Amino acid sequence: MARKIVILTGAGISAESGLGTFRDEGGLWSQHRIEDVATPEGFARNPTLVHRFYSARRQQAAAAHPNAAHHALARLEAEWPGEVVIVTQNVDGLHEAAGSRAVLHMHGTLAGALCATCDHRWPAPPEMTPTTPCPACHAPRARPDVVWFGEIPYHMEEILTHLSEVELFAAIGTSGQVYPAASFVQEAASQGAETVELTLERSEISRAFDHRHFGPATEVVPRWVETLLG
Ligand code: APR
Repeated sequence: MARKIVILTGAGISAESGLGTFRDEGGLWSQHRIEDVATPEGFARNPTLVHRFYSARRQQAAAAHPNAAHHALARLEAEWPGEVVIVTQNVDGLHEAAGSRAVLHMHGTLAGALCATCDHRWPAPPEMTPTTPCPACHAPRARPDVVWFGEIPYHMEEILTHLSEVELFAAIGTSGQVYPAASFVQEAASQGAETVELTLERSEISRAFDHRHFGPATEVVPRWVETLLG
């Protein structure tokens, strides 16, 4: 029986598709203060600034293409005889664009809009502003359907169920600095899963993995998938 594989991905897997990471040199958090653009308080204080930040990222993500790492994971899901689940911290749609189907966006998606009044969700227009009306309740309270610092990540119950069953856990392109995602490797290891990290350079959680492959995702991920599919 083929092992169940759970793969956590972070911004590093989309770096070679031209989308910025957060904590690398020149990353998004060196250009913007998290408290201004990625917290509910920041949105309440200056919704125009927050919408501008996410509208720019939404348009960049829509123009980006999946890279060899995204495609390798889609191939793994298609060809691996067991279950393959991607849990992504990313808000771009590049896993789905590469053909992956079992994808859980624990930090939401740029493609989604959420009404801060009635919780209605709809496909986000490329440009959102503080006056973008909710199609359901018409309140001018649209926000990006992304999870901000201080908010509860999405799909956690489902993710924890997968982590209780995983036999091979991989983390790709994440610095391991944000929880709860950074604790998933311990969850997996605690019930006997083999763990592997594939990323450009050592992360905060590298020591927690059984194996580590350092290098650009477009090189190390296809090689890892090739080894698995043998
Ligand atoms: N290939 C592989 N890994 C890469 C590449 C690459 N080409 N380029 C960068 N990396 C690695 C970096 O070494 C780093 O470990 O990707 C990681 C990016 O780390 P972060 O920028 O911290 O991104 P991430 O771990 O996804 O951040 C987690 O923090 O701000 C929040 O919600 C945001 O989802 C995000 C979360």
